[in-house]
Amino acid sequence: MTDQYAVIGNPIAHSKSPLIHLEFAKQTYQDLSYESILSPLDGFNLKVSELINQGYKGVNVTVPFKLEAFARCNKLSEFAKASGAVNTLIFNEQQVIGDNTDGTGLVNDLQSNLNTKLNGKRILLLGAGGAARGALLSLILENPAEIVISNRTLTKVHELIEVMSKSDVLENKPLRLRAANYETLTDQVFDVVINATSAGLTDTALPIPNTIFSVNCLAYDMMYGRETPFMQQARKCGVNVSDGLGMLVEQAAEAFYIWRGIRPETRSVIQQVRNLIKL
Ligand code: ATR
Repeated sequence: MTDQYAVIGNPIAHSKSPLIHLEFAKQTYQDLSYESILSPLDGFNLKVSELINQGYKGVNVTVPFKLEAFARCNKLSEFAKASGAVNTLIFNEQQVIGDNTDGTGLVNDLQSNLNTKLNGKRILLLGAGGAARGALLSLILENPAEIVISNRTLTKVHELIEVMSKSDVLENKPLRLRAANYETLTDQVFDVVINATSAGLTDTALPIPNTIFSVNCLAYDMMYGRETPFMQQARKCGVNVSDGLGMLVEQAAEAFYIWRGIRPETRSVIQQVRNLIKL
């Protein structure tokens, strides 16, 4: 029987996940279906129960249900625990297992697709909300020289560092995390600058100086489908710039691997989605 998967969100109509997963399935000869499911805002848990009863093997979870998905799980991966959010559910007998593949997706996009190795690098992470938290454990595990986290509200950065200091996976590892105000970044230079804020959604520029970008810097925006003010600023500084489309496909590839045990090829799928959104 065909194994059933889906992505649940609200809204969900524009999700690229069905296209991506069906492309992975075709490529790896997996017999599976994958659709997008709109859940009522107050009906996520019920929807998950329905899918489990219908024999679904797993689902991806997107906005605004990642925290509810986290709360629903009987078992959580270390990435899910560190993120405080779940984007991949595995239905195993009556157990609901939660994972978060966003951080792995980001790191794989940076290192494999954009050829930006993180070991020994100086990373600036902009933002301290859900997106930043989802990325942080994966970034630390690549042994950068330092990760500076900058956010409008600095208390959130301290909370984030506190969460990481409690992660079991990082028990004997130096965290090398530092909090910084945007205003104090003037005399600091980075190899990789990652925008994990949602400021781009409102076309808002961040108060970051041009001097943060080293000559060979990669400026990465986790957002895709639009050229954000952050990306425009970095382009004007002449550094390499990427949106987060590769991360979208790579986080899906990691979920596919968790479910199916096979790693799909991602480059052609990234290109396919890029052609679709024409950016
Ligand atoms: P997400 O899940 O997308 O990370 P979030 O958890 O609400 O959403 O976090 C949004 C992030 O974008 C936060 O870091 C937020 O900064 P604050 O914590 O100071 O609110 C940041 N952000 C959103 N709009 C911003 C803006 N106009 N300028 C600077 N930072 C902004």
